[in-house]
Amino acid sequence: MKFFIDTANLDQIKEAQDLGILDGVTTNPSLMAKEGIKGDENVKNHYKTICQIAKGGEVSAEVIATDFEGMIKEGEILAALNPQIVVKIPMIKDGIKAIKYFSDKGIKTNCTLVFSLGQALLAAKAGATFVSPFIGRLDDISSDGVELIHKMSEMYNFYAFDTQILAASIRSTQHIIQCAEAGADVITAPLDAIMGLLNHPLTDIGLAKFLADHKKVNG
Ligand code: G3P
Repeated sequence: MKFFIDTANLDQIKEAQDLGILDGVTTNPSLMAKEGIKGDENVKNHYKTICQIAKGGEVSAEVIATDFEGMIKEGEILAALNPQIVVKIPMIKDGIKAIKYFSDKGIKTNCTLVFSLGQALLAAKAGATFVSPFIGRLDDISSDGVELIHKMSEMYNFYAFDTQILAASIRSTQHIIQCAEAGADVITAPLDAIMGLLNHPLTDIGLAKFLADHKKVNG
């Protein structure tokens, strides 16, 4: 199972990379805007920096265009920045055509904004490398995001699709665990949700006892 961090914040990417468990980074226009990254050149340079920090990890860079030609043009520019780049394309009609185009050329894609099994099927048929179901946003509207991961996992396994399920819009540590149980190939999550996996009160209590016992004997 791969771990991606869902941010464009360089310090957070470094911190996750330093932990030694990071396989990649996902960004989107909202996350880039949150870091104040604007203008084509600045955006491209930011992606290059992220690729350097992520040391060989897969880095999703999202196209802004929503027409086929525009997505191809932008995607080719993004893919040329670094071999680590995965072109992130929205789940729309021209997006499916663009995913098929890039898939035929051997360029990795991440189909984003996926909310249904039908969309997940279409993206896999088009040859997407990753498909990103947004589980938190499904939960927001009283739907079951994790259940979609379960169903996608069953479907992709049944038909032996190579497409990887990239569970996105993760809001908590518990979401990560639920996605792991449901068969996600990849989770992308904020840093605090990833770091939350470290915590258990019995670990803290146990370590304090070990250290106290050691000190009793060794001074
Ligand atoms: O991975 C997709 C993510 O960035 C969207 O998250 O919390 O805005 O639904 P959220």
